[in-house]
Amino acid sequence: MSDVPIDVILIGLDEQQEQLIERNLGGQLNVVASEPSPEHGLTTIAANPDAIALLFLDAHPEQMLRLTHQVSSSLQTVVVVLSATRDPHRIVQVMKAGAKDYAIISDDNVSDVERAIHELSALHEQILKDKHGKVISVFSAKGGSGATTVAANLGNVLQRNGLEKGREPRKIVLLDFDMDMGDLSIFLDVRIGYSYQEILDNMYRLDSELLYGSLTHHSNGLYIVSHCNNVDAMETVAAKDLTRIVVFLKQHFDFVIIDGLRGFSEKSLAALDNSDHIVITLTPDIPSLRNANRSLQIFGRLRYTEEHVHLVLNRYNKKPGITADEMADALGRPITCTVANDFPLVNKSAHQGTTAVDLSPKSKVAADFQKLGYLFVDAPKRRRRSFLPFRRA
Ligand SMILES: Nc1ncnc2c1ncn2[C@@H]1O[C@H](COP(=O)(O)OP(=O)(O)OP(=O)(O)O)[C@@H](O)[C@H]1O
Ligand SMILES: [Mg+2]
Repeated sequence: MSDVPIDVILIGLDEQQEQLIERNLGGQLNVVASEPSPEHGLTTIAANPDAIALLFLDAHPEQMLRLTHQVSSSLQTVVVVLSATRDPHRIVQVMKAGAKDYAIISDDNVSDVERAIHELSALHEQILKDKHGKVISVFSAKGGSGATTVAANLGNVLQRNGLEKGREPRKIVLLDFDMDMGDLSIFLDVRIGYSYQEILDNMYRLDSELLYGSLTHHSNGLYIVSHCNNVDAMETVAAKDLTRIVVFLKQHFDFVIIDGLRGFSEKSLAALDNSDHIVITLTPDIPSLRNANRSLQIFGRLRYTEEHVHLVLNRYNKKPGITADEMADALGRPITCTVANDFPLVNKSAHQGTTAVDLSPKSKVAADFQKLGYLFVDAPKRRRRSFLPFRRA
């Protein structure tokens, strides 16, 4: 077992059993939630997607079997069923329902539980690595520097790059965290179906298919979640709810891209703290430079590692104004990539409810976004040209 304790959720265990586990396996396991009733088991398990679920069978065998089946068919959580007896009939039922192991727990012994977790720890780690999509927050150094444009176009290149032969299309969802004035849905000209509140309300019954069918889906392949039009409902989505939504969505999407961050508000921090990467958008001007500098300092204090914070210099035009090198010098770190200034194209794409990448894939702007995309996915391998002429034998 690794040195870091594995998160577990206990379902249906009584206080004594819980204490027994904590006393004997405390250094190896970290109990993140304990729910005595199987009725609330699915809710608890779905809310803690990084934990192994330990389900005690004996008090409610039928309900626990049902729960095992529900979890195994809708979530990727590793389920271990615990029982005081080694009943072969039950073991078969439990394994058929999708549990990964069956372990014995007695009044004073949890060594079989330890064995099961030990054996499953590698599988659990692998699932955690595989199942989580990446979260990218697009943070605007200065209002109007192109965060929404970058978020949508980045989403589009990541989605297009995923359209390789024989591969499942990549799934990308864009989230607009600006609950008051967010314009992502206007930009992409979509009517929002499921908003944050609907996701929260239905989180525990949404499997992938239902989720994909419920979210707003743009014709270019991107999924979009934004605020709803009901002003009263907007205020009920708290920062911690947004965190839950991000954690939930990254289980179902390859990339979750967040737009609409406003400074270091609680909601912005909910996005930033849960991000694998942060893209700062700035334009080649002094106010942008000053704000980017300040943002970088705050990111440093928040201990966001430098290699995960990327600077995108948008609306870049080499001739007049400040150059990318001058911006980099002033910021004390390199500009990750530039995006050409092409107002006619970006404006036209917004008018047509799509992205510049979609509207003009061969444009300089699209090529620049492509470069940005390759930070997060591997570029396709170029086929080597063979210079040998074809010869008949
Ligand atoms: N590469 C570009 N070339 C030309 N114009 C651009 C480019 N990127 C964005 N724009 C234009 O800049 C304006 C602001 O862009 P956008 O709405 O994406 O910025 P934002 O940072 O999301 O703004 P806000 O702070 O209002 O959310 C828009 O009119 C957009 O068309
Ligand atoms: Mg915006």
